[in-house]
Amino acid sequence: MCGIIGYAGSGNAGEIIYDGLLKLEYRGYDSAGIAVLDGGKCAIVKSAGRVKKLNTSAQLLGGSIGIGHTRWATHGKPDDVNAHPHVCGKIAVVHNGEIENYAELKKSLMDGGDKFLSQTDSEVIPHLINKFYCGDLLEAVIKCASMLKGSYALLAIREGSGEIVAAKNRSPVILGLGENCNFCASDEPALAGKCPRICVLEDGDFAVITKDSATVYNSKKQKINRAVLPNSAKEQSLSLGGYPHYMIKELWEAPAAVKNTVTAFGEVKNAVCSAICGADKIIFTGCGTAYHAALLGKRYFAELAGIPAEAEYAGELRYDKLYAGKNTCLIAVTQSGETADTVEAAILCKKSGATIAAVTNSPHSAITRTADITVPVCAGAEICVAATKSYSAQIAALLSAALALSQNTGLAEELSNAPALISQTLQNLDIYALAEMCARARGVYFMGRGIDYAVALEGSLKLKEVSYIAGGGYPSGELKHGPLALIDGSTLSIFIITDAALSQKSMEAVEQTLSRGGMVAVITTLPHVHKRFERRAEVVTLPECNKYIAPLAAASALQFLAYRVAVILNRDPDKPRNLAKSVTVE
Ligand code: AGP
Repeated sequence: MCGIIGYAGSGNAGEIIYDGLLKLEYRGYDSAGIAVLDGGKCAIVKSAGRVKKLNTSAQLLGGSIGIGHTRWATHGKPDDVNAHPHVCGKIAVVHNGEIENYAELKKSLMDGGDKFLSQTDSEVIPHLINKFYCGDLLEAVIKCASMLKGSYALLAIREGSGEIVAAKNRSPVILGLGENCNFCASDEPALAGKCPRICVLEDGDFAVITKDSATVYNSKKQKINRAVLPNSAKEQSLSLGGYPHYMIKELWEAPAAVKNTVTAFGEVKNAVCSAICGADKIIFTGCGTAYHAALLGKRYFAELAGIPAEAEYAGELRYDKLYAGKNTCLIAVTQSGETADTVEAAILCKKSGATIAAVTNSPHSAITRTADITVPVCAGAEICVAATKSYSAQIAALLSAALALSQNTGLAEELSNAPALISQTLQNLDIYALAEMCARARGVYFMGRGIDYAVALEGSLKLKEVSYIAGGGYPSGELKHGPLALIDGSTLSIFIITDAALSQKSMEAVEQTLSRGGMVAVITTLPHVHKRFERRAEVVTLPECNKYIAPLAAASALQFLAYRVAVILNRDPDKPRNLAKSVTVE
C-alpha cells in the first residue's frame, strides 16, 4: 500500500530511486514520483500512472540524495497533483499510510494561511514539518509526528540539507546499510542488490539517513539501537526469469515454496505444539487469500487434530468484542505480515490475553513483532499482487501444524510428496477450454463442500482479481437457497470435488445446475466424478490424492485458470486495477 524509498550516497539518486520504485510497484501503481536534492535545490518529477512513466525524467535528475514514492490512492484520485512527493517551502515528503486527523490539521494550517494543492491526507505532513522547522529537520519531523493520528511511514528531505529523516507508525520502514550509501524503504525487495545489511524500524522510531550514517532515534531525540540483520532480498528472485508475468512464474514456484515451508516447520514444531496445546479456543484469521487459507486451517485443526477452531475475517475480528480471552490462541495468516486488519486483530487479541501465532512469509514484519510465535511460510518474494505460491505454502504450514498436533504420520508422508503432486498437476493440466469458457461467461461461480468450499472461495477471488469477471464462491448445498437464480446459459458454474465422502451430494448440485441450462465445469481428483460428467460438462482432472492434500493441487489449477483468463482478456495479472499487494490501511 504505497511504496517509499530514500537514498543517500554518491551515486545518481534519480536512477537508484527509480530502480527501487520499480521493485516496490506491487505496493501500489497508480502514480509515482521522485524528489532529489541537487546542488542544494529540490528537483521533483511525478506523474499519474506506472513508475515506468518516470523513466526518462528520473535519468535527468542530478543529485545523490532523494526520496521516491509509488502510490495506491486513499485520499484523492490518482493524478499528477495527488502523486507524491508533496512539498511545502523547502520540505518534500513521501508518505505511506493514512492520516486520520488530516482534515482538522489541514483546516488549522489553512486558517494560518497555508495553501494546499492536492486532495491527499499526506500533504499536511510537509506543511507541519515546514511550520515546525527551526534549523533541525529531525526535531521538526518529531514535532509533526506528535500531531498525526493514523498510520505513517514517511520520508522528508529539505533543500540545503544532506539528510533524509524517516518516521514510522503502523506502516513499515526498513533502513538499508551500504558502503558509502544508506537507504530507507517500505520493503526489502526495494533494497535487493543495493546493500548487505538492513535494520527494521519499530513504531515510534525516527531515523536520520546520510551517505555515511543511519541513526535511529526515539521521540525524545535519544539515539536507540535496532538489530542489524543481513539483507536477504535477492535481485535474481525479483526478475521475471523468462516468464511473461510474475503470476505464472510464481505459481510454478509453488512446489519449492511448499517444500521449504514443510522443512522449516520442523524447526518450530515443538514450540508451535506447546503454544497451541494449552489453548481452549483457536481462532484463525486473515484477509483475502490468507483468510481462505485460515478456513482450511480451521478444518485441518478440527478434523485432523480434533481441536475445535473458528475462522474470522481479520477486518471483522478486530471490532468483535466477543472473541479472544486468556486461553485463546489466535493464528494470524498473512503473506506480507503488514496487513493492517490482521495486525490490528492480533494486537486486540493479545491485549485480551491471547497467545498469537503468526503464519507469515515476512520474517521481519509487523505481525512477527506482535506474535508470540512465528510459523514460517517460505515462499520467497511474491511480486504478483494475486497471491499464488504463498497461498500454497500457507496451506502447507497449516497442515503441518495440524499434523504435528495429531501425530498423523501417514498424512505427513503424503504432505512431503505434495511438491511433486503440484508439479504433476501443473504439467498435466488441461484447462485451456475452461479458460475460454470463463472468458466468455457473464458470471463465474465456484462451488464446493467442506474443504472444497474453502478452495472454491479462493478460486473465485483469484479469477475476479485478475480477470474482473463477476462471480462468487458458494457451498454447493447453498445453491438451491438462492444462487440457482443466477444460472442461465451465460453463466458458468465450476464445481470443485475432491472429497469422496461428500462427492455424491456435490454431484447432485452439478445435476441441478445442468438441468437449469447453465454452463458447468467440474474440477476433481475423483475418477467416478470424472466418469459421470465427462460428456456433459467440462471436466478437469487432477491427480488422485488425499482430500487434505487436494487443496494444494486444486489451488494450483485454479490459479492457472485465473492466469489464463487474464491473458485471454488482455488484463495485467500482476497488477490488477485498484489493488495493491500489501494493504496497510483500513
Ligand atoms: C490475494 O490474491 C490478494 N491480493 C489479497 O486477498 C491478499 O491475500 C490479502 O490482501 C491479504 O494479504 P496478506 O496475506 O499480505 O495479509
